[in-house]
Amino acid sequence: MSKFWSSLAKQVEPYIPGEQINDDTIIKLNTNENPYPPSKQVIRAIDEASKNLRLYPSPTVDELRSEIGNINELSKDHIFIGNGSDEVLAFSFMAFFEPGKRIKYPEITYSFYPVYAKLFNISSEQIMLNDDYTIPIERFYDSDGGVIFPNPNAPTGIYLELEAIKQILENNPSHVVIIDEAYIDFAKESAVSLVEAFPNLLIIQTMSKSRSLAGLRIGFAIGSPELINGLERIKNSFNSYTVDRLAIAGAIEAIRDNDYFQQTTTKIIESRTYLKNQLEARHFDILPSQANFLLISHKEVNAESLYQELKKQGILVRYFQKPGLENFLRISIGTPEQIEKLLEKIDHIIKPSP
Ligand SMILES: Cc1ncc(COP(=O)(O)O)c(C=O)c1O
Repeated sequence: MSKFWSSLAKQVEPYIPGEQINDDTIIKLNTNENPYPPSKQVIRAIDEASKNLRLYPSPTVDELRSEIGNINELSKDHIFIGNGSDEVLAFSFMAFFEPGKRIKYPEITYSFYPVYAKLFNISSEQIMLNDDYTIPIERFYDSDGGVIFPNPNAPTGIYLELEAIKQILENNPSHVVIIDEAYIDFAKESAVSLVEAFPNLLIIQTMSKSRSLAGLRIGFAIGSPELINGLERIKNSFNSYTVDRLAIAGAIEAIRDNDYFQQTTTKIIESRTYLKNQLEARHFDILPSQANFLLISHKEVNAESLYQELKKQGILVRYFQKPGLENFLRISIGTPEQIEKLLEKIDHIIKPSP
C-alpha cells in the first residue's frame, strides 16, 4: 500500500495472468495461445503498415469492422473493436452493468469477471455450476443487472447449446447478456445468429486464440447497433485510438486468410481429441472440452505436484489455486510434437519406477 494510491487503487484485486516466460526451450501450454504462427499474409500486412507509423490509426476502425461484419453477415454497425477482448469486456462492464444492480456469472469461470466487477463497483451473484460442471440455465434467468459467461466456459471448456442461450436471453429482456466467445472457433457454433433477434445480446470474440494473434491484442464485440454505440461512447471517453495501425492491418488479413484459419483450427481440434484419448488411457478424468484446452484431473495424482514436476521438466501448464479447481490442471492444445513431449514427461512422472 502506498499513501499516494487512490482508494480505488487500494481496493482493486488485480487479475493475475498466466506466466509468460521468455524461453524458447519451454513448451508453453499455460495460456491457451495458438501453437501455430499467424498467417504469412498477416506478417506482410504488418510490415507494409509499419511504413505509416508516423500517422495515428483510424479511430473508427471501419475496414476491420466491415471485414468482421462480412464473415458474420452483419453490417459494421454491429461490430466494435478493442485492444484484446479483455478491454472489450472492461468497456462492456462500464457500458451495460450498473453499480448497485447484481449481475450473474458462473462461480467457476474466467477470473477477470470478478476483477472488473470490483473495479467498477458492480455487485455479483456467482452461480454454482452443476455437478458435471455444466451451466445451470434457469439460475441465469431474471437477473437484476445482467449476465456474463464464456461459451465454451473457461476453464472447463464445456459448451452450451444455442437453445439454452436463447432461453437465458428471453428471460433477461431488460438486461444485457454477454457471451464471451473467446474459444468459439474450436466449438460447435457461435450465438451470432441470435444477434438480430435479441437486442440484449452482446457477443465478445478475440483474435488471440483461433487467429494466432495473442501478441497483437485485437478483440471485438458483435451486437445490436444500440449496444455497439454504448461501447463507442465509453471507448471515446477513454482513448480514441485503442488499437494501433499494425494491429488493424494484421487483423484484417487474419480474417481474409480463411483457408489458413480453417487449417490451423482443424489441426487443433484433431489434436484435442488425440490428447484427450491419450490422457484417458492414463486414467485422467477430462471434462468434455470444445475449446483449445483440456481441464484434467487424476484420482491418484496431485494436480499441483504434477504442475511443479512438469515445470521442472520444461513444460508449463496452468494450475489454479482456487476453490473448486485445486485438483485440476488446464492444458492448452499444442502441436503434435509438443503433445508427444508432454505425454512422455507425464509418463515419466506418474509411472512408478520398477
Ligand atoms: C474466457 C476468456 N475471455 C477473454 C480472454 C481474453 O483474451 P484477449 O484479451 O487476449 O482477447 C481470455 C484469455 O485467456 C479468456 O480465456
